Amino acid sequence: MTERLAATPSGIATAARILQDGGLVAFGTETVYGLGGDATQPSAVARIFEAKNRPRFNPLISHFASAEAAFTQVQANPLAQKLAEKFWPGPLTLVLPRAPGSTVSDLAADGLSSLAVRVPRGEAVLALLEEVGRPVAAPSANRSGRISPSDASHVLEELSGRIDAVLDTGPCAVGLESTVLDLTNPDRPCLLRPGGVSVEALEAVCGALARPETEADAAPLSPGRMLSHYAPSLPVRLNATSVGPQEGLLAFGPTPPTGAAVTWNLSPTGNLEEAASRLFSGLRFLDSQQPTFELTGLAVQPIPAHGLGLAIQDRLHRAAAPRPAEPDAP
Ligand code: TXA
Ligand code: MG
Repeated sequence: MTERLAATPSGIATAARILQDGGLVAFGTETVYGLGGDATQPSAVARIFEAKNRPRFNPLISHFASAEAAFTQVQANPLAQKLAEKFWPGPLTLVLPRAPGSTVSDLAADGLSSLAVRVPRGEAVLALLEEVGRPVAAPSANRSGRISPSDASHVLEELSGRIDAVLDTGPCAVGLESTVLDLTNPDRPCLLRPGGVSVEALEAVCGALARPETEADAAPLSPGRMLSHYAPSLPVRLNATSVGPQEGLLAFGPTPPTGAAVTWNLSPTGNLEEAASRLFSGLRFLDSQQPTFELTGLAVQPIPAHGLGLAIQDRLHRAAAPRPAEPDAP
């Protein structure tokens, strides 16, 4: 049974106790819902992989209530301090060398000498992390390869019966995952995954960001970058300027093409932040309309490549990628 907990002091206290006891609790952050487990308990971390059906162990982000708490687990450099001051709590994940005394289990860190840390935004999640008092590992609370959840009901669709509880903190404000920045070499900050903090905002602080040389280089480092991720069950066609009668349309802006069976407009005013916050719910909604309209696929209008548009494009590119021959999730 998966319990749905309200984001009240008593719901938060129950969630904290479950986590301390090695159980799994999904909770909302400003980005997406995370599937949380105590990062210091290898058995809790193993349960996360099992619940998600992850094909292999991958390094997880450790979540903290404050930068001070996060920086007990990693060796922060001045650039990390500066970014933490500017963007935390918020949708930025920093990859840093693990501190010698780090209590995060090797399983959560995938045996790497680096660790990804983040302080999420949101009153309830911060209260929860404070109360747990330990690093909480939390990948997105979906089955591996599927659309990330931006609402408690999405989590239950994906993971009901496989986790102990979900702390219902309402819909996620940003709606797509955090930006992952590798600062293990502070002279060469490297963008591992575009996300909720735009590249422009980061470059204003860090200067130009390096990118992993190729997709293959990045994949082992950042599995959120694996192709065929965030996938709805229908095929996805990108940069569509016209649409067929059996297609669902993921639209953007005031003048979407007409003729789709069903349309979800990410932002009628063309606002990229609104579009990011409505992306995963839109993919889920259109996918759910398949039986009603006998949809054969989803068409996606072009999305501009600036601000959060880059992260939106990244997720859509993965949603449209060729699927593995044998999907790992039913
Ligand atoms: O917004 C988010 O980041 C959400 C919420 C729940 O916080 N979490 C999330 O976790 O997206 P996950 O596990 O789906 O993605 C974590 C990303 C992966 O791409 C992973 O490879 C990368 O962070 N990562 C974690 N540890 C790393 C490390 N030591 N070095 C490089 N990349 C790392
Ligand atoms: Mg994910």
